[in-house]
Amino acid sequence: MKNTVVTFQEMKAKGEKITMLTAYDYSTAKLVDEAGINSILVGDSLGNVVLGYPDTVSVTMEDMIHHGAAVSRGTKDALVVIDMPFLSYQTSVYDAVVNAGRLMKEGRAGAVKLEGGEEVCPQIRAITTASIPVVAHLGLTPQSINVFGGYKSQARDLKSAKKLIRDAELVQEAGAFAVVLECVPARLAELVSSRLSIPTIGIGAGAGCDGQVLVYADMLAMFSDFRPKFVKAFANVGEVMKAGFKAYDEEVKAGTYPAEEHTYSIDDEVFEQLLKEI
Ligand code: KIV
Repeated sequence: MKNTVVTFQEMKAKGEKITMLTAYDYSTAKLVDEAGINSILVGDSLGNVVLGYPDTVSVTMEDMIHHGAAVSRGTKDALVVIDMPFLSYQTSVYDAVVNAGRLMKEGRAGAVKLEGGEEVCPQIRAITTASIPVVAHLGLTPQSINVFGGYKSQARDLKSAKKLIRDAELVQEAGAFAVVLECVPARLAELVSSRLSIPTIGIGAGAGCDGQVLVYADMLAMFSDFRPKFVKAFANVGEVMKAGFKAYDEEVKAGTYPAEEHTYSIDDEVFEQLLKEI
């Protein structure tokens, strides 16, 4: 069944947990979709996971469109959300609408995600007015890594916890249909979830959120550069891949691959004639 913005609202109303995973390519998107995950996030974490940057700040609109379109082609039922990359919306409301529109028209996004609270409410309002659904993102917002001074949990003192609650209410009022809460205390995330009518999607924010999101390469133990505390390895795919690569290396070198069943034949007569003619 096709998941939409309305599915998210209905699931929150029924108290059903929403699942979201990242994907950055066609084949992975197909597997995530076939597994019944409600939503696929083409996260700008592709900067780390796919492109090998130390953070997400170098990711471009072209990167997001390229990978977003591939994911959309591989997806039947999940709602595809594409991240707006750094400086594609902070610069002006106009830029925000134009770039969100590109992610929808060229990337075939069903919704876009952007980071920030009160300061990006004008952008959220304008993008949703243009009929593009928006997911907000609060707490640890990786595009602001240079301001935070590292990947640290957020909103743990009174002032910043109050600010998180206020920002969550403001992005909802501005028109966001869901909000990602990243690396914030579980009790605070649960409190925010109970105060909002839109669903919260947690990552490192405890079980009290309305849904959960993870980077697929983290939860399959494929990405080894760093492993945040909140990540659980649901399968050891990294090790399985390495074992497969090693077996291939060994068989090619030993001459056991390719075997007879992996080859194409040519008619004896054709081959003999060929030998005569060359
Ligand atoms: O880019 C991303 O993958 C994200 C998730 C971590 C929420 O924003």
